[in-house]
Amino acid sequence: MTASIQDPIAAPEEELASLKQMLQRRLDQLIPAGGERDLVSAAMRDGALAPGKRIRPLLLILTARDLGCDDDHPGLLDLACAVEMVHAASLMLDDIPCMDDAQLRRGRPTVHRQFGEHVAILAAVALLSNAFGVVAAAEGVASDSRNDAVAELSAAVGMQGLVQGQFLDLNEGEATRNEDDIANTNELKTSMLFSATLQIAAIAAEASPMVRQRLRHVAKDLGQAFQLLDDLADGQTGTGKDIDQDLGKSTLVATLGVEAVHRRLREHLESADDHFQRACGQRGATQRFMHAWFDQQLAKFH
Ligand code: IPE
Ligand code: IPE
Ligand code: MG
Ligand code: MG
Ligand code: MG
Repeated sequence: MTASIQDPIAAPEEELASLKQMLQRRLDQLIPAGGERDLVSAAMRDGALAPGKRIRPLLLILTARDLGCDDDHPGLLDLACAVEMVHAASLMLDDIPCMDDAQLRRGRPTVHRQFGEHVAILAAVALLSNAFGVVAAAEGVASDSRNDAVAELSAAVGMQGLVQGQFLDLNEGEATRNEDDIANTNELKTSMLFSATLQIAAIAAEASPMVRQRLRHVAKDLGQAFQLLDDLADGQTGTGKDIDQDLGKSTLVATLGVEAVHRRLREHLESADDHFQRACGQRGATQRFMHAWFDQQLAKFH
């Protein structure tokens, strides 16, 4: 049984908090605890249920609603959880020693530090597989639309998405890169999952091909802005992640400097806004949410 997403609370912050609670409860159900010796299930739960920002699933739900999807669509929450599971799997793999070798994630020791590298890798693979199963079984979505959603998610993970982006980041990140190469890697490792997120929202809302095309542009810009913000925050305390993880890496912050990256981030946001407005025909909850969220994050730099 999926919970209804219908929410009578008017204040946006309370509504977001309530959506996050619903996501947490549903993720908890979709990733069941195993037995005492089932370390892989424990690691899956640890990685996915840890307090992340839940930006992607929130975006999926808000965008679907802005596109006219019913508040009580029976499969929307599960589709949002599936995207979050893919994201959590990507973080678990990103953190292991042969990748970024991170100690902290979401304010806790990384999954491989708690459970061992072999368990972290297996848990990430299991989460990915679980995510595809959840999309394939989403209620209230016609079977060809489910296939479409699976294809979007698959594209976001594979050689045109996260995997390729992560490979390029690890293989070339220590060398000098030009800005186009860095932006291309950021698009693969970050924008592509935003793209699947918005496309799945559009699929749930039965949006037109034109709207879906516009949302692809939104995702490109939003993903770039999001990765730039992440790179800018690398030296900050209080992120729940290792500080200065990117030292020696050719990010756009290292290549262009902080000021230029702030300008570039703003440009990406304006462009995302413009495309979103055209996709939805009006300024909806998603745009208000993204503005408020980026403003809040950017305020930390002043
Ligand atoms: C971190 O993503 C990885 C990037 C693409 C920058 P988030 O910043 O969304 O991480 P959580 O989910 O809040 O932990
Ligand atoms: C994003 O890049 C990684 C993924 C998309 C998995 P980062 O390596 O910068 O992400 P964080 O900073 O560890 O969250
Ligand atoms: Mg990384
Ligand atoms: Mg990392
Ligand atoms: Mg980072």
